[in-house]
Amino acid sequence: MCGIVAYIGKKQACPILLGGLHRLEYRGYDSAGVALLNGSLKVFKTKGKVSDLDNLLEDLDVTATIGIAHTRWATHGEPNDVNAHPHYSSTEKMAIIHNGIIENYNVLKQELQQRGYVFRSDTDTEVLMYLIEDIMAHEKQALAEAVRIALTQVTGAYAIVIISQDEPDLLIAARKGSPMVVGIGEGEFFIASDAAPIVEYTRQVVYPGDEEVISISLAEGLKIRTIADIEKTPYVQTLEVNLSALEKGGFDHFMLKEIYEQSRTVKDSMRGRLHMDQGIIVLGGIQDYLRKFIAARRIIIVGCGTSWHAGIVGEYLIEELARIPVEVEYASEFRYRNPLIYEDDIVIAISQSGETADTLAAIEMAKSKGATIIGICNVVGSSIARATHAGSYTHAGPEIGVASTKAFTSQVTILTLLALMLAEKKGTISASRYYRMLHEFNSIPEKIEKTLLCNDQVKEIAKVFSKATNALYLGRGINFPIALEGSLKLKEISYIHAEGYPAAEMKHGPIALIDEEMPVVVIATRKGQYEKVVSNIMEVKARKGKIIAIVSEGDEDVRALADYCIEIPECDEMLVPLLATIPLQLLSYHIALLRGCNVDQPRNLAKSVTVE
Ligand code: AGP
Repeated sequence: MCGIVAYIGKKQACPILLGGLHRLEYRGYDSAGVALLNGSLKVFKTKGKVSDLDNLLEDLDVTATIGIAHTRWATHGEPNDVNAHPHYSSTEKMAIIHNGIIENYNVLKQELQQRGYVFRSDTDTEVLMYLIEDIMAHEKQALAEAVRIALTQVTGAYAIVIISQDEPDLLIAARKGSPMVVGIGEGEFFIASDAAPIVEYTRQVVYPGDEEVISISLAEGLKIRTIADIEKTPYVQTLEVNLSALEKGGFDHFMLKEIYEQSRTVKDSMRGRLHMDQGIIVLGGIQDYLRKFIAARRIIIVGCGTSWHAGIVGEYLIEELARIPVEVEYASEFRYRNPLIYEDDIVIAISQSGETADTLAAIEMAKSKGATIIGICNVVGSSIARATHAGSYTHAGPEIGVASTKAFTSQVTILTLLALMLAEKKGTISASRYYRMLHEFNSIPEKIEKTLLCNDQVKEIAKVFSKATNALYLGRGINFPIALEGSLKLKEISYIHAEGYPAAEMKHGPIALIDEEMPVVVIATRKGQYEKVVSNIMEVKARKGKIIAIVSEGDEDVRALADYCIEIPECDEMLVPLLATIPLQLLSYHIALLRGCNVDQPRNLAKSVTVE
């Protein structure tokens, strides 16, 4: 997704802006640009990387204490220098950066063209800039008011910042549906898509709400008005994330760092919620809705990608332990298929970024039909977090690698806490099994540490399969969504085509794919339908398939059959996903490295899909 950064203060703006863009690179982008104001307004932009922009500016005069900067992930118009942001107004006295989509930009563009405006780019953003300019010229409005009026005519999502040569002490920003955070320093202000570009300068932040226009000047500070022209008092929070959390911490890639963080992040997801001394689980964020959960006739879980996989794990957990019917929906399908939703339904929306457009839209649709919406998000103050009635943050810390790892195990941790808590409240689990699971659950972080010891072995296995063109992932029961998740990891960072299947489904088609070239990853832990999975392994072997098996510690039976065995510690069947997913994360990481892929920023992917 696009990234925005803006600065106004006493320091030189350019280094702060470019440094901020580097910190947003993980969001995925195809071009970058900056606008600087120092008497006159100058825009510099280029297709390519932020480092290309660095080079472009190297010998230029970039003296300025106010500016805006942007990384673009193309939605309207191909990636090129002209379509890159910032975009000038027609007079080149103003410039705008934008993350989001103006859905009615075509209609607006035609109207503006009829009034004589000539567009340079194919973007929706330039249309918004000209609309604001047109309102200033024809309705004699100042910039802030013109922005507010323009946004009343716009449909879609936006996080915008505008600077003007005629008002050099002013940053005007606004957001709806796209993320934005404002940083408040000592005589200086920052605006960015998330905290990464800000945290090294200040921890005092404001998260603007939807349809709010933010005016920032050194003379008058920070003011907020809604596009309905109502003044809002800024709510200043203190950022907890620190810069080191955003660095790679000695690992070669953010993804590997985040895989290794999972022992701690799963523990952080439990922190303050799993009280072993009292044998209870408390999810403070949803306590007010506990009765609704217990009385719920149905829980609908919505999400995309990895979050959708976590939802399927949640389905097995909640149905098995709490005996509440669960449906899991792709948010992108759920939002459009006009589903039957009842007021006693509970919808759980899962999202790492909290900004996924389809998930946000699914929430709004379900809310409009009266459902109670509970969020499981990783980003505090994110749009999805604020669109729900209640929820639990996963507390996995910033996930920089585009391929989700620690966020997934944290999502599963929250779902496990929820399932166990509901089971205990509803009496659908025996006391002995409940306490046994609590103890096993509490030991998962140290079992994750032990599971990570397989890294060197997985690295060797990756060498055998790095040239594969296809792969099949199989699992049964609660391990079926782990097969899906493992195949997504391989697909998205190594670009090898991979499919996840319920192991029993293999006979209904995929077995035709099996040959000596095809790696088949099977989750064959000793619990659940173990014997049937062993049979599936033998079916694959009979067709010369290569088996990589994830097995329980000490399993010799599967070891006799599989070409490669990766052991994970024994644990309750319902907790296996938290361990079995880790070797699969490592396998995709090492194979992708061997294939020379960009592990943290895979091609075509964005960390947060804030457009449809
Ligand atoms: C996961 O590795 C992918 N990056 C992607 O599928 C992701 O899970 C999906 O886009 C949902 O993102 P969210 O959790 O931020 O809503």
